[in-house]
Amino acid sequence: MKVVIPGGTGQVGAILDRALTAAGHDVVILTRRPARRHEVHWDGASLGPWAKEVDGADIVINLAGRSVNCRYTPANLRAMMDSRVRSARVVGEAIATAERPPRVWLQMSTATIYAHRFDAANDEATGVLGGAEPGVPGYWAYSVEIAKAWEREQDRAETPHTRKVAMRTAMVMSPDRGGVFDVLLRLARLGLGGPVAGGAQYVSWIHDHDFVRAVEFLAARDDLAGPVNLAAPAPVPQRAFMRVLRAACGVPVGLPATKWMAEIGAFALRSDTELLLKSRRVVPARLLEAGFTFGHPHWPGAAADLLQRARTGPTGN
Ligand SMILES: NC(=O)c1ccc[n+]([C@@H]2O[C@H](COP(=O)([O-])OP(=O)(O)OC[C@H]3O[C@@H](n4cnc5c(N)ncnc54)[C@H](OP(=O)(O)O)[C@@H]3O)[C@@H](O)[C@H]2O)c1
Repeated sequence: MKVVIPGGTGQVGAILDRALTAAGHDVVILTRRPARRHEVHWDGASLGPWAKEVDGADIVINLAGRSVNCRYTPANLRAMMDSRVRSARVVGEAIATAERPPRVWLQMSTATIYAHRFDAANDEATGVLGGAEPGVPGYWAYSVEIAKAWEREQDRAETPHTRKVAMRTAMVMSPDRGGVFDVLLRLARLGLGGPVAGGAQYVSWIHDHDFVRAVEFLAARDDLAGPVNLAAPAPVPQRAFMRVLRAACGVPVGLPATKWMAEIGAFALRSDTELLLKSRRVVPARLLEAGFTFGHPHWPGAAADLLQRARTGPTGN
């Protein structure tokens, strides 16, 4: 099959590119700076010659968006919003004007769309969308607005021959250098992998192999459309999440950090504490109902596998 991946040059794109190419698919990546043979130029905002790639493709998986791993300044938040809304809109335009539109458009969304909560897990039917939680910094609502606007853009696109799925994805854990798992592992090895601000906030995550399998499942299942959570069925509190990681890599202690220490650390890393402090308790009800089975449903097994592959190379095969 021909698979077009706008924004496929980043962490998630590398995972999909590797797996889908290995499975024999013809993968084309849309990027603002093409460098490799299968990369095609686009600007993420307007139609251009790149739209030919979408015409006749089987699947489009749109991942484009300014990285969220940054300080949430007004300018960065605006760039996070605009890059997602504009790229989703123009992907929709390319599909709408294609003579042979793709069968399915898988649009990246995020588990961040759900409310910061501890009491119960968010599934697609009963989950609470975020933005009105009491006692959290006001700017957290903006990341929820970004996610909603992202999904709205896909929703309103008129693509009658193309099934649309919004992938509300949790943190994708892969052994690749520079990815989330790699960063957390390094912190754990430095003895810094302790609870942050008490560590009761939930971490939702998904193993990279399950992420790829879920994408393939969603691409194949003609009966599934709309928002779908891509997260392992067992999110864990941050304190337990890091304890498992420390145990897997044989580091007995992890210094706890207060909210203020996290602020300083996040500032030094040019990142934002929302990524650490927001409780993301998200479960994949629709995938499970549709019969999807997770290869790595629990964090201890997933962490051990990721660590092993980090030592032997990302595919681990
Ligand atoms: N990583 C995760 O665990 C995770 C979880 C949930 C959701 N997501 C979302 O999934 C998407 C991919 O994640 P990722 O970790 O692979 O992100 P990433 O490494 O930051 O890659 C995103 C890609 O988007 C493109 N991009 C950046 N700014 C853009 C702009 N202004 N206009 C058009 N394209 C732009 C970049 O491609 P070029 O520079 O080559 O054009 C970049 O490679 C992101 O939207 C992210 O928010 C990620």
